[in-house]
Amino acid sequence: TGFFTYDPGFLATASCESKITFIDGNQGILLHRGYPIEQLAEHSDYIEVCYLLLNGELPTLAQRDKFENTIRRHTMVHEQLTQFFKGFRRDAHPMAVMCGVVGALSAFYHEAMDISDAYHREVSAHRLLAKMPTIAAMCYKYSTGQPFVYPRNDLTYAENFLHMMFATPCEEYKVNPVFARAMDRIFMLHADHEQNASTSTVRLAGSTGANPFACIAAGIAALWGPAHGGANEAVLTMLDQIGDESRIEEFVARAKDKDDPFKLMGFGHRVYRNFDPRARVMKKTCDEVLNELGMADDPQLRIAKRLEQIALEDDYFKSRRLYPNVDFYSGIILKAIGIPTNMFTVIFAMSRTIGWISHWNEMISNDYKIGRPRQLYTGAEQRDYPQS
Ligand code: CMC
Repeated sequence: TGFFTYDPGFLATASCESKITFIDGNQGILLHRGYPIEQLAEHSDYIEVCYLLLNGELPTLAQRDKFENTIRRHTMVHEQLTQFFKGFRRDAHPMAVMCGVVGALSAFYHEAMDISDAYHREVSAHRLLAKMPTIAAMCYKYSTGQPFVYPRNDLTYAENFLHMMFATPCEEYKVNPVFARAMDRIFMLHADHEQNASTSTVRLAGSTGANPFACIAAGIAALWGPAHGGANEAVLTMLDQIGDESRIEEFVARAKDKDDPFKLMGFGHRVYRNFDPRARVMKKTCDEVLNELGMADDPQLRIAKRLEQIALEDDYFKSRRLYPNVDFYSGIILKAIGIPTNMFTVIFAMSRTIGWISHWNEMISNDYKIGRPRQLYTGAEQRDYPQS
């Protein structure tokens, strides 16, 4: 029609103003509220980054204590929600369960419907942050047939998640500090990434005035796809599929073949065209975990390292600026920690919840309009219904 800007895939459209996260894809810069991700990864932790994303500033010690205690107070889910889990098939994908359960939280916190009240918005953010690890671990426990493990509020966020995943009523799980640190890093490096597909989905859903739990459920659905959060799971599936170092060349050739839909999972990024700053930190953490486990020579890892090398040297990947992204390394770390592959994207969703809710809150706290894109219509012209 000529009236609208046509920008499929939103390659050149800013959908909103935001003060939360800055990305310079050419220079590989990622800042949360102005702080570089590398410095946060080195000196901060996930809980502090959550406070920062939500509130705009780093907390004082007293503010941090208060925030952490508030999150701890909300870690349990309503007991009735355990019944809801039982309606799912045991072999359901944990992301399918998570979408449903998080959406169902709307049915428990009616005051959250009042999104015009800043206090209610804050409590919803705290509830979501506190309950996501509990829900994620419950998804896993349900799939294994083991009883749900209640949260332990004396543990840190990452330790508590590992405890709920791996403890059983018969056996305590002794949390390995290297694993807890690696988990915390994974949470931190996935916390926010400005207007990616799932965050844009949360904003779009939120722009209609929908409640925060429903909006986050929409974000989880958008994250699930293999081009987005599903990539960490897809990396491991791909490494399994390759199976042996001798078959690497065959798969690389397939990735370059335009008639073959196969892509190297964990490579490439819409915004980062030189390197992904999160991938650098993740690679270091990956080495730490594998050394701790004495797994530096794991066969699957050798395939991963070789792929990484090919991507850095081969003209196809170099000319298209395709580098290993954050999910290439996070998948390998999670596997080494003993997290089952189908939980990888669930962990991404858990980590990204703070980003989603911070963006939602930023939008609702300011003037906003309902998100309503237009289209270029290419269908049939007006025509008459056939009369017999
Ligand atoms: N393997 C082989 N070729 C690739 C790959 C890949 N992983 N990624 C992009 N290309 C090619 C693509 O075919 C195109 O080639 P040509 O110019 O000859 O047509 C060129 O590189 C540019 O790619 P694009 O599809 O235009 O890039 P995009 O910005 O639309 O897509 C992406 C970015 C991340 C969806 C894509 O690179 C991809 O599918 N990667 C694999 C999945 C993945 O790892 N996703 C996780 C992203 S990071 C975490 C997150 O955001 O959730």
